[in-house]
Amino acid sequence: MPKSKPQSKRPAGATAKSARSAASKLATPKTAMPSSSTPRKDDRLWGGRFEREPDAHFDQFQRSFSFDRRLLPYEIRVDRAWAKALEPIGVFTATEVRQTLAALDKISDRTKTDPAWIDSFGANAEDVHHFVEKALVEELGPLGWKLHTGRSRNELIATDFRLFIKDAAAEIQHGLKNLLNTLLMQAKAKLGVPMAGMTHMQHAQPILLSHFLLAHAEAFSRDLTRLQSAAASADACPMGSGALAGNSFGIDRNSIARELGFSKITANSLDAVSDRDFALDYLFALTGIATHLSRLAEDFVLFSSQEFSYVILPDEYSTGSSLMPQKKNPDSWELIRGKSGRITGALVALLTTLKGLPTSYQRDLQEDKEALFAAHDQVDDMILVATGALIGTTFRDDRLCCAASNPLLFATEGADYLVHKGVPFRQAHDLIGKILREAEKQGIAWTQLSLEDLKKISPSFESDFIGGISTETAIATKNVPGGTAPESVRAAITILQNRLDQLTTQSGAKP
Ligand code: ARG
Repeated sequence: MPKSKPQSKRPAGATAKSARSAASKLATPKTAMPSSSTPRKDDRLWGGRFEREPDAHFDQFQRSFSFDRRLLPYEIRVDRAWAKALEPIGVFTATEVRQTLAALDKISDRTKTDPAWIDSFGANAEDVHHFVEKALVEELGPLGWKLHTGRSRNELIATDFRLFIKDAAAEIQHGLKNLLNTLLMQAKAKLGVPMAGMTHMQHAQPILLSHFLLAHAEAFSRDLTRLQSAAASADACPMGSGALAGNSFGIDRNSIARELGFSKITANSLDAVSDRDFALDYLFALTGIATHLSRLAEDFVLFSSQEFSYVILPDEYSTGSSLMPQKKNPDSWELIRGKSGRITGALVALLTTLKGLPTSYQRDLQEDKEALFAAHDQVDDMILVATGALIGTTFRDDRLCCAASNPLLFATEGADYLVHKGVPFRQAHDLIGKILREAEKQGIAWTQLSLEDLKKISPSFESDFIGGISTETAIATKNVPGGTAPESVRAAITILQNRLDQLTTQSGAKP
């Protein structure tokens, strides 16, 4: 398509004012059948080929402004970039660009300072694109109708949504970093405290409380990486893809992408309007976080129970019972655990919507936003509550220590002792089992059996065994990288701290 300057369709003498009154006339709902002197029966972005108005109920059903209004700041940013890109290809004059940008700034300011205006002016808006065009026409007259030259809502919505997700991922990263810092701070503060490590919810081997806290931190630091990769998958600009086929005005796609802070443009126009992988990636990252939060929540619900009494939950993050005066319930953690289901639901909902869709834009894709917005908001809140609840939690070092001192937790250490004395592990395992039975018979802890009794079961026991096994030694021997020995845990803290410091979080606007 030649880059010649298209003829201006603006009627001579048309002013913003005259267009305003024209626009308000055009906006009059559901009057008689359109006459040939009325070129447009309302100000929708489509409609010329229709003889009759949409059914009122269907019309409500298909509108998206109630939720896609959240994309207004992004829509306006994209509009600004598009307006600038229309000048070099001769669609806009420099003056028209200036006027359009000024009007967009004004609209942007008004959306921020006067949210009630969004409700009133947007009452008849079909979607976020329609809202901004209506507002532009209100400001500029027919010039407002020029901005949509060569573009489609299909590429616009994909672009707005990608911009939203880039900011949203940055916001969640910020929250996660705070949560991680809290876990790290507690891991540092609690370095000397042992606890009973469990498998199958049965006491297994002693570990450091810090090791337990760092286990959660590791999971959340993987979530940070997943968020970064979700933001990277959103980081390509669809503008210039048109409805599906591309742009026939020779628009400079790369300069629009640069202007909007995208590092690249999408590669295929048809894919660009079909693709919601970036939304799936973001929802998967959120689902990972929610799942990890639900595990943290479950641990703290259990640990705050009377049976464990490992932690005292802060009043600020607990609630009481309307009937039982003594109750202090771990509702913050229970709600975090409960809400995680919705996040998984949002991921499954979008996967289900996308499954079997033909290539290209389909209106089904409008269903991508509500659940994602809600999932984002929920996860943001969940992280904030989890961080606050963690900060206020008191660990009962006495209870943790006491559980970690049960000699049954050192049984593996006993087997390891025999292995060091040359006994094959399977036999050692068996011998310790016999020793446990003998101690049970005598009604004492197995570590209190006399050397004589021990030697009866295995001559490999020597005097160095007596008093050689304790919570501390059981923990200290796990001195591999990633193990629970104090030196290993100290190293893990440093590694995690460095990783966290290196993670650059894009400072996004609040999505
Ligand atoms: N509201 C639509 C969405 O959220 C974008 C508009 C595209 N509509 C259309 N009929 N092509 O996906």
